[in-house]
Parts: sequence; C-alpha cells; structure tokens
Amino acid sequence: MLEKATLKLGETTFDLPIVIGTENEKAIDISKLRDVSGYITLDSGYKNTGATKSAITYLDGELGILKYRGYPIEQLAEKSTFLEVAFLLIYGDLPKKEELDKFQADISRHTLIHEDMKKFFDGFPSKSHPMGQLSSLVVSLSSFYPESLSARQTDEEKNLTIIKLLAKMATVVSWIYKKSIGHPIIYPQNKYDYVTNFLNMTFGQRTEEIEIDPVVVSAMNTLLILHADHEQNCSTSTVRMVGSSDCNLYASIAAGISALWGPLHGGANQAVIEMLEKIKDDGGDTEKWIKKAKDKDDDFRLMGFGHRVYKNFDPRAKIIKKACDDVLNKLGISDPVLDIAKKLEEAALHDPYFVERKLYPNVDFYSGIIYRALGFPTDMFTVLFALGRLPGWIAQWKEMRENKEPIGRPRQIYIGEVNRDFSEIQNRK
Ligand code: SDX
Repeated sequence: MLEKATLKLGETTFDLPIVIGTENEKAIDISKLRDVSGYITLDSGYKNTGATKSAITYLDGELGILKYRGYPIEQLAEKSTFLEVAFLLIYGDLPKKEELDKFQADISRHTLIHEDMKKFFDGFPSKSHPMGQLSSLVVSLSSFYPESLSARQTDEEKNLTIIKLLAKMATVVSWIYKKSIGHPIIYPQNKYDYVTNFLNMTFGQRTEEIEIDPVVVSAMNTLLILHADHEQNCSTSTVRMVGSSDCNLYASIAAGISALWGPLHGGANQAVIEMLEKIKDDGGDTEKWIKKAKDKDDDFRLMGFGHRVYKNFDPRAKIIKKACDDVLNKLGISDPVLDIAKKLEEAALHDPYFVERKLYPNVDFYSGIIYRALGFPTDMFTVLFALGRLPGWIAQWKEMRENKEPIGRPRQIYIGEVNRDFSEIQNRK
C-alpha cells in the first residue's frame, strides 16, 4: 500500500503523505505543500479536491453506491423512517427504541415557533419564492434563540439547538406553504410522528380533522430519507464553510438553503417539472428537446440529468422512479408528465452524447413527479429537498465542529494587473 506520493519540481522532489479511507478512497495530503514547495494546487469546482475526512456518508459514483453511516440507502429507504435516519446521521448509530422515543418526544416539544415569527411570514410578498422565505426564516431563528449564537455551547446546549431546528423546520416549511395559498396555518400536534405532523400542518384544515393517507406518509418518509445527506455537495460544503467561522447553526443552515436553491443543485427538482411541462405543452417531442440539450449553442440542459460524482445511475433515482409508479398507482393518479419523463430517459440513455458523458437521471429527475402527486406545488419542491437534507447538514456541521476543523480559506492564483499608480480623476483618459 502506497504511503507517500513524490512530487518532482525541477531538481527537487517532495514527499507527500497518502491518506486512505475505510472504503479505500485515496488522497494525497497537500496540507503542507505550499510550506515546503511554494506551490498550491488549482482545481476549479473542487472536482478533484477533498475538503475533509468524514464518517457520515459514503458514495461511489462509478458503482452507484450510497451509504449513511455504513447502511445502504436501499435498506434505509425500505425499512427506516426519516426521523430514525436523522438520528443515525447526527448521532452515528441507529437509535434503540427508548432513544428514538425520546428523540421524537424532544422534537415534539419544540415544534412551535415564536408567535412573533408570524410577522415575518406576513412580510413576504405572496408570490415570493419559498426558498428565499425559508432561508430568511431559518436565520431569524437565531434572533429568538440568542444562546445558539455562542460557539462555546456545551454539548447539551448544542444538542438542544439541533433539536429545535429539526422540530421547527417542519413547522416553518408547512406554514410557508399555507401562507402561499392564503390558508390559515395549522399548528403542530404532539400525537403525530414527525412526517405525519408535517403533512397535517401542510394539508390539514382548521374546519375539520383530515385523514393522512399512509401511502403519502410512506412516500414522504422515503423521499426525505433519500435526500437526507450526500457527503460534500455544494450546499453541505457551504454549511461547513460558514460554520467553520464559528458561525451559529441557524445561519450556517440558512446559507446551505441558499446554495441548494440553485437550479444546478437542489433547484433542479423544480426545473425538471417545468421542463417536462414545457415538453408536454410542446406536443411531447422528446427528440427535439434532446437535440436542444446537446446543442452547445443552446443553453438548455436536460434538468435532472447528470451529476458531478455519479457516472452511473444515481441509486436514489432508481428508488424514486420505482416509488413513482407505486405512489401514482396507489393514489389512482395518472400524470402525463411521468410518461414524458420515462420517454426522455429512455431516449437519453441510448443517445451517444449522454452515454459518452455518463449522464444519467439523478435524484431530481423523478422526485418532483411524486411531490406533485402528493399535492405539493412546484415551487415547494426545493423546500422539501431542504427539509430532507437538514439532518445531513446538521450532522456535517456537528462533525466539523467536533473535529475542530480550521476556518475554510482557500488560496488563489492572481492573474490581474501587477503594478499601477493612482491617477487623479481629471487625468484619467
Ligand atoms: C444535485 O453534488 C451532489 O451530491 C448534488 C446532489 C445532492 O444530493 O446534494 O446530488 C443534488 O444537485 C443533483 C444535480 C441536480 N442538477 C441538475 O439536474 C442540473 C442538470 N445537470 C447539470 O447541470 C450537471 O450535470 C451538474 C451540474 C449536475 C454536474 O455538472 P458538472 O459535473 O460540472 O459537469 P459539467 O457541467 O462539466 O458537464 C460535463 C459535460 C458538459 O459537456 P462537454 O462540455 O463535455 O461537451 O456534460 C454536459 C456538459 O455540457 N452536461 C449536460 C448535462 N449535464 C452535463 N448536457 C446536457 N444536459 C445535462 N443535464
């Protein structure tokens, strides 16, 4: 097993340590490179650069493998619940029954948000995007819980901040939806489990108790589990970067929500449905749109296709695609957009452009179809992605803090003007 890499610069060679992870991933540790050689490395988009060592999530992009704390995503999606997976990601092990019961009870006790926060909801224009509202509302939690601002919180205080955020996020998400349709908000009910409570706050009515369909609860658990973590993606890296400055959890998560909003990242699930709707309205001519996606002069991309790491099927997409058929059949819904999605996928997977670039459907390609079948409007899809990703973000922020990782501060190569003297404005040509 290699223990070092040797870098030759001119006549000088430098030995750099090799790091090997428990899944046999390999890295060259360059943390001392600039000190010993005066050189840094350059890697736009960090495509080849590891930011940290983590014990939370492992994925293999070539083999399409995804595991949370060593448990395959397929098993968790089939057998676990979102709350249990949140516990696993944050605390490292599957909870014993009494631990899970206490976790649920602690969360139930903190689902209410400060009544003054309702003024923030009323301050947003009615059509403002739910992701912008979510990011603002989450960072505003730090105003109501100033004790969360300290970077010297005890483990117990930090854990209470974590519980409060997990509990209140579901309330905030459901109330954003209620406000967007002009319906009265529904308060949390301690009799419900986490996902049922969220669905009741979202779809419940003041005038009558509603039955929450177990099919919908099961589908929501599966979707939230599949979104719960994904190692060092754009939004998680943002949470870690912001948290590395000793910034509080609420503000770190709010920054991650903003990063997730982008259509190249979590915003893709909304963009996929908008794309499929456009293709449907255009007569369902998938060949025409595949041609557009391949055309370098056309900035159209096949949303929900391609991934920075998965160069094989995204294992989450496989599970969601199957869940699509199950949920729509059980709910007796036929969605023409699902047929277009399948036709598009079939065409792309046989097209050399996509095959050569190893572009496969990712987690966002089918998820929106299920969210729609469950009754969510398109502009809520990325907010649902954020609700699912919350335990992963929290786990990564907590690990970074526990490992006392340094403040994130990448270097650069300067390519600008070198020396210029100031000139008075009257002399500038
Ligand atoms: C998520 O990182 C994560 O883990 C993210 C995520 C998570 O759980 O956190 O998995 C969630 O963000 C999933 C990705 C959702 N985004 C989309 O579906 C948007 C559409 N996909 C892309 O824009 C793109 O595939 C990315 C952003 C996802 C990945 O981009 P990369 O790795 O930077 O790859 P690239 O843009 O350099 O593309 C490589 C080639 C290019 O062509 P060439 O220059 O080689 O000719 O593939 C082409 C691209 O033009 N390409 C596409 C394409 N995706 C890449 N062409 C058409 N349609 C696409 N979707």
